[in-house]
Amino acid sequence: MRLTALKLTAIAAVLSLSSCGNGGEDIVNVIPEPNYVKLLGGSTEANEGIVEKINDPKLGEEEYVIEIRKGRVTVKASALRGFLYAQQTLDQLRDADGEWPDVIIRDRPRFAYRGMHLDCARHFFSVDELKRYIDMMAVHKMNKFHWHLTDDQGWRIEIRKYPLLTKIGAWRKGEKLFRPDGSGGDPTGALYGGYYTQEQLREVVVYAAERGIDVIPEIDLPGHMQAALAAYPELGCEGYGPYEVWNFAGVSPDVLCAGNEKTYEFLEGVLDEVLEIFPSKYIHIGGDECPKDHWATCPRCQAKIAELGLKGDGQFSAEHYLQSGYVTARVEKFLNEHGRSIIGWDEILEGELSPNATVMSWRGSAGGQKAAALGHDAIMTPTTHFYFDYCQSLDRASEPDGIGGYLPVSKVYEYEPFTPEMTDTEKKHILGIQANLWTEYIATPEHLEYMLLPRMSALAEVQWCDPGRRDADRFFRDLDRMCGIYEAMGYNYAKHIYEVLGKVSVKDGCYLIELKTAGDTPIRYTTDGSDPTDDSPLYTGPFTLTATPCTVKAATFRHGERSKVWTQELIANKAFGKKLWLNSPKANGYDYLSESALNDGIRGNWNYSDGRWVAWNGAPMDVSIDMNGEKCSEVSVGFIINTPNWIFGPLSLKVYGDGVLLGWLFIPEVGASAPDSVENYSVTFPETEVGELRVVAEDTRVIPSWHGGKGHTGFLFVDEILVK
Ligand code: ACM
Ligand code: ZN
Repeated sequence: MRLTALKLTAIAAVLSLSSCGNGGEDIVNVIPEPNYVKLLGGSTEANEGIVEKINDPKLGEEEYVIEIRKGRVTVKASALRGFLYAQQTLDQLRDADGEWPDVIIRDRPRFAYRGMHLDCARHFFSVDELKRYIDMMAVHKMNKFHWHLTDDQGWRIEIRKYPLLTKIGAWRKGEKLFRPDGSGGDPTGALYGGYYTQEQLREVVVYAAERGIDVIPEIDLPGHMQAALAAYPELGCEGYGPYEVWNFAGVSPDVLCAGNEKTYEFLEGVLDEVLEIFPSKYIHIGGDECPKDHWATCPRCQAKIAELGLKGDGQFSAEHYLQSGYVTARVEKFLNEHGRSIIGWDEILEGELSPNATVMSWRGSAGGQKAAALGHDAIMTPTTHFYFDYCQSLDRASEPDGIGGYLPVSKVYEYEPFTPEMTDTEKKHILGIQANLWTEYIATPEHLEYMLLPRMSALAEVQWCDPGRRDADRFFRDLDRMCGIYEAMGYNYAKHIYEVLGKVSVKDGCYLIELKTAGDTPIRYTTDGSDPTDDSPLYTGPFTLTATPCTVKAATFRHGERSKVWTQELIANKAFGKKLWLNSPKANGYDYLSESALNDGIRGNWNYSDGRWVAWNGAPMDVSIDMNGEKCSEVSVGFIINTPNWIFGPLSLKVYGDGVLLGWLFIPEVGASAPDSVENYSVTFPETEVGELRVVAEDTRVIPSWHGGKGHTGFLFVDEILVK
């Protein structure tokens, strides 16, 4: 990619520090390949281009070497991508005066698959907006654009054989989607939508290819198909329909009928045209969140299950096998016969994995690890680190409308796909890493850019750098300069990095406070509950506070303005730091949340997976604390209420002292419209000397029918247990 000369100068000096592994250190003398940087000292006058380009066939496709010595710039690479990445690095290496250092850089990426995904089905983005998106990918040296083109809420790809897909399926009633609980939406129902003609799709493919980026189209099947069914209702299961293009967020129950030959004729007709437009080796066939209810009652699907002799096995139903072992396998065979390979979301592991499929692991990393252990390729894109539709600040009121969740830049940067248990062969199957941008609540390019930047910069380092070359402190220092680049390119980026990122832990019975922000922006703090001013103490490094109740506040001061104030209440009490143990198991998937969080004197906020909370599911919270004979008269416990995420709060709270019930509380059930909150419930009782204090909270309900999780058990997220 070439930006304009003006922009080139403005983005000088930085990006190598953020997206490739060779930056970070000022002087690195001898570092083994890859990611080798040698600064020779001295500098070179600003230079508009590469002086000498050498084709070096010994280098890999994405590898490059830059040598700048006394005004001479030499770039070696063997292919387009290597030369493009070298150019990016050169553009980014210049300092504020437009000068390059004399330097030798030898660089190549850690992972071959470095992707970004964009959902253009929930909201439609124009070709020009897509080009800006691709430019952003190019700056970060990414090479795979995963384009989500079809979903319940809109079909966006012109298919000449099936014109109704875009005539009907590309348009829905209302731009703004209703939330799954029925709130939000666009009551006017004004028609909203759009689609890409085949010429436009090809234009995007060519534009991306010129920037070293493959476009991987996704046709999400056999679920997420309500828009297609609105156009061709005969493709649905017997007894269902008519259909409209959906104007809700969430997962529609409508699916393609797996027992109808017409479905496969349709899919092959669509894919024939997809293959003509997209030269990519990979075609993404979705496979996620496919509801099985229609298949369970449809005579055609049931006949197909009987014909194939499919059976449930306790873990997966016959309908799961129908998806993975038949629908996915049949589509894979078709695409393999046409010389292409499939990628599917990790649900394609449920039942029988198609022989050559690559698994895209989104529900955590376990799906990718399992695929690798089975000898399949995998791409890691877990919600925990790479769902860029999650918000970036805990201050929800200051964030744009969104799907929820919390994913700060720092968390993106922390991700490591390899585990100590993985064999070298399994590691080789992890092709790479991708972040996803779902757009249920993202309708404008400004909002889209805000969600991407600067998290994309952290993603790029995870994709590119060897683990030993990653350094969060260096990354945050450089982010400041990185944002200068975004500004020069006219991108709207999130400014949270200039807020305080605080961490409180308990060390030797005291609180340890660590504060961070981007660059060298000064942080000032107070411990008396007052808001910091530019006269407050300057933060110079981690400090400790004794375990007495107090409130720490901190803020950054930049261009004369105070950032949002970071506040942490420290609530030491009689239970603080005492020996604590669990009498019931934590929720599956949340055992990483340590029970020490329950009495560390730090109260969790609404971000329930941040380590401040402990979770139970299907068992009561049952905790004992050794109070060592202390007098107690009140126990209060905090719970999250967040029904969209299956967190309902308790129905009762009981407190026992040395086996005797001291007090209890029954708590009303929350309803469909309960707002998200953190609730504290207290049980008081006559003052009692207690050895073992046992606290039990129960959620005995089964999730009611108004909720998508109906019939399952809900979660309890608990913090903090306070004893008076
Ligand atoms: C997904 O987020 N449904 C892949
Ligand atoms: Zn059916």
